[in-house]
Amino acid sequence: MAYSYVRSGGNLSLEHRARSVRNAKVASAARLDPDDRDVDSLIFQHRRPILEAWLEQLPGQLNVLDVGGRIQPYRGLIETKIRGYFALDLQFEGMVDVVATAEHIPLRNDCLDLVLCTDTLQYIPDPGAAINEMHRVLKPGGQLLLSTRGCYPEHHDELWRFLPDGLRRLAHRFSKVEVMPEGATGSGVMTTINVLLHRSLEETRWGRIARRTSVPLLNRLGRVLDRISPHDTRSACGISVRAIK
Ligand SMILES: C[S@@+](CC[C@H](N)C(=O)[O-])C[C@H]1O[C@@H](n2cnc3c(N)ncnc32)[C@H](O)[C@@H]1O
Repeated sequence: MAYSYVRSGGNLSLEHRARSVRNAKVASAARLDPDDRDVDSLIFQHRRPILEAWLEQLPGQLNVLDVGGRIQPYRGLIETKIRGYFALDLQFEGMVDVVATAEHIPLRNDCLDLVLCTDTLQYIPDPGAAINEMHRVLKPGGQLLLSTRGCYPEHHDELWRFLPDGLRRLAHRFSKVEVMPEGATGSGVMTTINVLLHRSLEETRWGRIARRTSVPLLNRLGRVLDRISPHDTRSACGISVRAIK
């Protein structure tokens, strides 16, 4: 696979780079195997089995691009199927190989089997252009697996929230698009309450107490409510998409 350009972090010290990779690996593990003491755990608990089922169906020898791949939570699920794995991100941090924007992917047409784009679309200024680029670089029959936040409070530098029909529209160039809510409304509402109540306390004594008490309790309540109303997904905490070129 030939990149038209690859920029490395030329002036970063090796020590900085090693620390950044170590931190990214810790963050990846926490997203793949979420802890109930984490306010975001319901999102990642629901996301993993959806992506795992889709990834399991893929053949081996995959050339993969991870858009927003500073952290790579789901790479471990396909390690034995990977031929080449390249992470593109705005920042040369963590496990990034290529610094570029998702709206201008520095790759030729039709060269990839799989594009992963998890928890990134909501940060991208032009999400439609980014999805068109992901479509362009995939081979015919190649797949885009994408996840983004659904019902979730405003966070850091995010720009967008998406709904299932909006994602279908953005992926209109693909021949087949499947959209899956990550959990149901119970999880979305309880995650929202968890984040609003606890995020600002995280580094305080009350935050540490909450991590052992109210945070896991609200996560459990979210799972119970999802079991009571599994088909109400209007406020699911996240959405996953499988799109086939
Ligand atoms: C929350 S992280 C997602 C990490 C990982 N994919 C995951 O699932 O945990 C979002 C990443 O998207 C990157 N990002 C934001 N805007 C971008 C853009 N326009 N093009 C490429 N990457 C972008 C950020 O730098 C950040 O590393």
